Amino acid sequence: MKKIAIIGGTGGQGSGLALRWARAGHEIFIGSREKNKACTSADNLKTICIDTACSLLEIEKTDVEAVKEKVPEAKISGFDNLEATKRADIVVISVPYSHLIPTIASIKEGLTEGKIIVSVVVPLSTAVGGKATTIISPWEGSAAEVIQSLVPENVQVISAFQNVSADRLSNLEKDVDCDIIVCGGSKDARKIIMELAKDIPGARAIDGGPLQNARLIEPITALLIGMNIRYKVKEGMGIRFTYLPE
Ligand SMILES: NC(=O)c1ccc[n+]([C@@H]2O[C@H](COP(=O)([O-])OP(=O)(O)OC[C@H]3O[C@@H](n4cnc5c(N)ncnc54)[C@H](OP(=O)(O)O)[C@@H]3O)[C@@H](O)[C@H]2O)c1
Repeated sequence: MKKIAIIGGTGGQGSGLALRWARAGHEIFIGSREKNKACTSADNLKTICIDTACSLLEIEKTDVEAVKEKVPEAKISGFDNLEATKRADIVVISVPYSHLIPTIASIKEGLTEGKIIVSVVVPLSTAVGGKATTIISPWEGSAAEVIQSLVPENVQVISAFQNVSADRLSNLEKDVDCDIIVCGGSKDARKIIMELAKDIPGARAIDGGPLQNARLIEPITALLIGMNIRYKVKEGMGIRFTYLPE
């Protein structure tokens, strides 16, 4: 089981990932700029985990003994972003692109050797007052590569989970139905994050190769947002690749 910090975990995407991974048994540290906000969010997410488990197991929440016996404890706690980073082996960056650089600066002290950073960030044009259906091109190539340029060399950066929506992740009663492309870092680091992707029921992890491929993967989210609007898919579409060898 992994210790996972989610920086910006009080937001939609971070909360969704936190719920899925807590249900899979991982220990989650919700990070926020404000510790109190993180604690409140962690408590809410724990309640969602309990409520969903009770509903799926058909247990009355008021039956404290049955809940204790049959509902697995969700290990979710809240901290400020730096403290969450220090406690974790895997640090997920889940803040809007416009706040990426100050956020990385605020946690840099906690990014020690061996930690793996996972970027879910999409550089949507909303960062500069534009539309959510287009992206801006960071000088470094992608949001993930911006992160790479800011962190110590002994910290690996992986790009993943940009093409799955917060709404799909947050609905614990339903499996997601999508592929998760994981790129960057060493093959071993990618494997660790691919295992985390597989912990989300319905998700299939695909090895996306080097971090530069984040330049191709991040814009898919802008494409999906446009298609969600055209097809009125409120919960968000996903992507699937076919003919992939087992
Ligand atoms: N939502 C989706 O469906 C989705 C799907 C794929 C990828 N993504 C990507 O995932 C990332 C997070 O998306 P989201 O929808 O979860 O975003 P969000 O809810 O708008 O924000 C996430 C968190 O970022 C922090 N934040 C807000 N303003 C900030 C600021 N000025 N400085 C530093 N931190 C700030 C907040 O945490 P605190 O106030 O607690 O610090 C907030 O809860 C984005 O890069 C997005 O492109 C989202």
